[in-house]
Amino acid sequence: MCGIVGYIGNRNSQPILLEGLKKLEYRGYDSAGVAVFTEQGLKIQKAKGRLAVLESQLVAAPLDGTIGIGHTRWATHGKPSDVNSHPHTDNSMKFSVVHNGIIENYMTLKEELTAKGHRFVSETDTEVISHLIADLYQGDIVRAVQQAVQRMTGAFALGVLTEYEPDRLVAVRLASPLIIGVGEGENFIGSDIPAILEYTRQVYILNDGEMAVLTRDGVELMTLEGNFISRELFHVDWDLITAEKAGFDHFMLKEIYEQPKAYKDTMGSRISPDGTRVVLPEVGMSAETIRGIRNVHIVACGTAYHAGLIGKSVIEKLARIPVETDVASEYRYRAPIITPETLVIVVSQSGETADTLAALREAKRCGARVLAITNVVGSSVAREADDVIVTWAGPEIAVASTKAYTSQLVAFYLFGLYLAQTLESQTTEYIREVIAALRLLPEQVEYLLGQSETVKEYAKHIAQHQSLFFIGRGMDYAVALEGSLKLKEISYIHSEAYAAGELKHGTLALIEEGIPVIALATQEALLEKTISNIKEVKARGGRVFGLALSGNEELGKAVDEVYTVPRTHPLLTAALSVVPLQLLAYYTSLARGNDVDKPRNLAKSVTVE
Ligand code: F6R
Repeated sequence: MCGIVGYIGNRNSQPILLEGLKKLEYRGYDSAGVAVFTEQGLKIQKAKGRLAVLESQLVAAPLDGTIGIGHTRWATHGKPSDVNSHPHTDNSMKFSVVHNGIIENYMTLKEELTAKGHRFVSETDTEVISHLIADLYQGDIVRAVQQAVQRMTGAFALGVLTEYEPDRLVAVRLASPLIIGVGEGENFIGSDIPAILEYTRQVYILNDGEMAVLTRDGVELMTLEGNFISRELFHVDWDLITAEKAGFDHFMLKEIYEQPKAYKDTMGSRISPDGTRVVLPEVGMSAETIRGIRNVHIVACGTAYHAGLIGKSVIEKLARIPVETDVASEYRYRAPIITPETLVIVVSQSGETADTLAALREAKRCGARVLAITNVVGSSVAREADDVIVTWAGPEIAVASTKAYTSQLVAFYLFGLYLAQTLESQTTEYIREVIAALRLLPEQVEYLLGQSETVKEYAKHIAQHQSLFFIGRGMDYAVALEGSLKLKEISYIHSEAYAAGELKHGTLALIEEGIPVIALATQEALLEKTISNIKEVKARGGRVFGLALSGNEELGKAVDEVYTVPRTHPLLTAALSVVPLQLLAYYTSLARGNDVDKPRNLAKSVTVE
């Protein structure tokens, strides 16, 4: 998704803007640009492609000035190109705008402005904003931005500069994230905290419908109607090192290796010292409220949705409450039956995914209680939900989610156990057994990370193929979906995940000599059935790589290669079996020479519907 930075102070802004944009690269982008107020007026440089392209342009023709805005663009309206890149300007070139989000009524505005004589050069919705502000400007940029925003529908965050008022930088937030960094004699804007963390730890987090006016010496916060707001500064207590590669070749590999810590931190003090109970003080539901839950809806996108599929099995098995899991972009349009007795659980690493946020709002509108599982404290999802379970995975930078997913699983295990102990739907002995297994997961993941050689070899093999399959039953199927998504997004190999028993109803026709099939068989109760499905694949020439629990030697005889996963409680196998699949995606992407951390076409935080 697009990234915004802005600076006003006494230093040269160009290097600060570029550094800030580098810290936002993880969000995914296809072009970049900066606008700086120089002695010759407002000057813009922008370029399609990686930041390095823009950087080399700026080396050749630097922009000197102490106030500027910068942007990384992830194309929505109009293809990636120099002209469609931000910042955008108006015909007088006196106004400049960077934008994250979508202006839904931009065509109507464009027609109106065209009729008034404005000429447009790009295909973007953002260019319309700069023209609209220019059109409304009557000597006060704050007023012009407020009036422009009233005319715009959609979701957006903006950074705005005008040559007429070179000592003010205006920022707006409406449903796309934006933070303000407060320094001494200098102030900043950013789409995310890492963009400004090198310069200050004092931050205001803008809420929806708020704006900020930055000068060198201060920041004024106000509503879009102009009412001033007073707010405490938020002190950021984590450092950039946590968000750097720490010696790993890629963020994704670092994040895979951080999983034992993420598991431990997410469990943290949420398990009683004697290992008998789960303690979740952040969940403010009384026992009576919990007893009143008739059904649960889990809503999320992509990888978080896959965590939700495991969440469904876990909650149904532990609490015996019916659960539905939905893709967030589908949920609110299928008129789901949501009542005040429905608990809606939204899962989002970033806490800013537009589809998930829209689902949360729909659930609240229908009177449901909403629990969020998110990795970002202070994110929109966290702020709008009734209860929040934070996954303490730490910043996740690689586009392909790994440690956030597994921490979401841990959050579901904890919440499922919490429901079970409140509802007394499981015996204390059973709950103790699951907790004991949960506590062993971090060291079992350490063990798996030490076994990456087999995976590396297998990755070289599948890197040669154009298509492959993942199969599994029960929770193995949910993990197969995640393994397949991970592989697709960073290796660009076509892959499909199937419920193993479903293959013979059509997809088996695609199995031919040598096609790789990755079979997950960690659900012991379903082992015999899965082996039968593996045999169906083998009989048609498929080459099967099996994932088994240690001790299940019979699987080894049915497949071509086998990788064993340590034994754990049957409810928890996903937290282990996904690790070799993450490594497989990583090493396959590497073998194909892809950009592992920034796969093509994808963004880390998807703030458009
Ligand atoms: C895949 C991936 C995406 C995200 C999805 C939701 O590796 O990361 O599928 O899981 O875009 O994002 P969040 O969790 O931030 O809502």
